[in-house]
Amino acid sequence: MSEKYHIVTYGCQMNVHESEKIAGILCAMGYEETRRIEEADIIVFNTCCIRENAENHAFGNIGALKKLKKQKPSLLVVVGGCMTQEKGKTEVLKQKFPFIDIMFGTLNLERLEALIKQKKKERKRVVEIREEAGEIFEDVTPFRTSYPNAWVNIMYGCNNFCSYCIVPYVRGRERSRKPENIIREVQNLVKEGYKEITLLGQNVNSYGSDGTTGMTFSELLDAVASIEGDFRLRFMTSHPKDFNEDVVKVMQKHRKICRLVHLPVQSGSNTVLQAMNRRYTREKYLDEIKMLRSYFPEAEVTTDIIVGFPGETEEDYLQTESLVKEVEFASAFTFVYSKRQGTKASTMDAQIPEDVQKDRIMRLVELVNAFTRKKSEKYMGKTVEILCEDYDSKKNLYFGRDEFGRMGYFISEKNVIGKFVQLKVTKVNGISLFGELEKVKE
Ligand code: 5AD
Ligand code: SF4
Repeated sequence: MSEKYHIVTYGCQMNVHESEKIAGILCAMGYEETRRIEEADIIVFNTCCIRENAENHAFGNIGALKKLKKQKPSLLVVVGGCMTQEKGKTEVLKQKFPFIDIMFGTLNLERLEALIKQKKKERKRVVEIREEAGEIFEDVTPFRTSYPNAWVNIMYGCNNFCSYCIVPYVRGRERSRKPENIIREVQNLVKEGYKEITLLGQNVNSYGSDGTTGMTFSELLDAVASIEGDFRLRFMTSHPKDFNEDVVKVMQKHRKICRLVHLPVQSGSNTVLQAMNRRYTREKYLDEIKMLRSYFPEAEVTTDIIVGFPGETEEDYLQTESLVKEVEFASAFTFVYSKRQGTKASTMDAQIPEDVQKDRIMRLVELVNAFTRKKSEKYMGKTVEILCEDYDSKKNLYFGRDEFGRMGYFISEKNVIGKFVQLKVTKVNGISLFGELEKVKE
């Protein structure tokens, strides 16, 4: 019987996809997946350090393994992800959790197999964290878990140094993958039947700006969208300082590209944006939205917003509210500012008290949700195209998303997972749509 692996993932889509790569390495070594942590022979924690609560969560879960490891000493406990890349964190992890067998970083993920083999030979704990990013590894085949959706990295790292953000410190400088490797990967995914491809990067608009690819992001997007086949194409994350009309023109050329842009604004106040080192103004952001909607009036925008950044006044916060009202985001990820060691913002005076932060986040969430609900109501009675992702056995319904990321639920007698279906919306509940299946695209 083969040995089993279990992966625990924290954080963003980037990490979810990295876990698919970790799973790919483990599968190639002969391990099989188990959803039950007690059954596993190897457990990998793919950590995130972008905010303190993600980190605390991981600390709690790793600590809880102590008992299992005692009962089953052959169990391999592995910790990877961006927390291990954080300055001083490996030492903390080593001291707090002496039962960790292997630690590796996001910058040397491809070394996992070698590290497991080394650990199996030696009794000593194996720790290998690379400080600088090396060559992009192209040899890992991810074990994808999200059919019919697939994520494809187009670049790694970030050069932006937003003053609150730890990502550039733990994920290294920006590196872009070669266009031919990206195009080949997408061609294969489409051949395998994947129906929605999302191009991933911390700042996709600066793809190729390291001069190594011979292509800009809009040229890459054009090339990927020109691949034959029936699939949707998305990209994230765009940075407002670099998002431009060239990209929108490519969106206009290809109906495959979803007319939804994830464009994190972070704040509606120019003072805060400047202190965040975002390098755009509220006015520039709003102009970009106007430009996008001049091409596609139906275009939707999602965003990320931080409240309680050091020095944020009530007036600044209200500027964020007014921007939310002006743009009418389809949805927004809202965060309370989290102080990250080593970032510029962590040394700023005027850190905002927790009760003020909490009050602002509650008001903001309510405002954002009101727009999301208002947008849902507009769907009533309309027919939408949904890509069926899965079956919800609790609700007894199939579900999937429309072009704008809106979740729709429906009854079907046939299994339609991986198919585009037409859904007539008959009920709207908060952010979810319910409807009758009208047509299945074969
Ligand atoms: N505190 C709160 N939110 C943060 N983000 C990044 N760093 C921090 C931080 N220190 C948010 C930003 C970013 C998203 C991925 O996470 O909004 O766009
Ligand atoms: Fe962090 Fe800014 Fe880079 Fe996004 S663009 S990963 S927020 S530094």
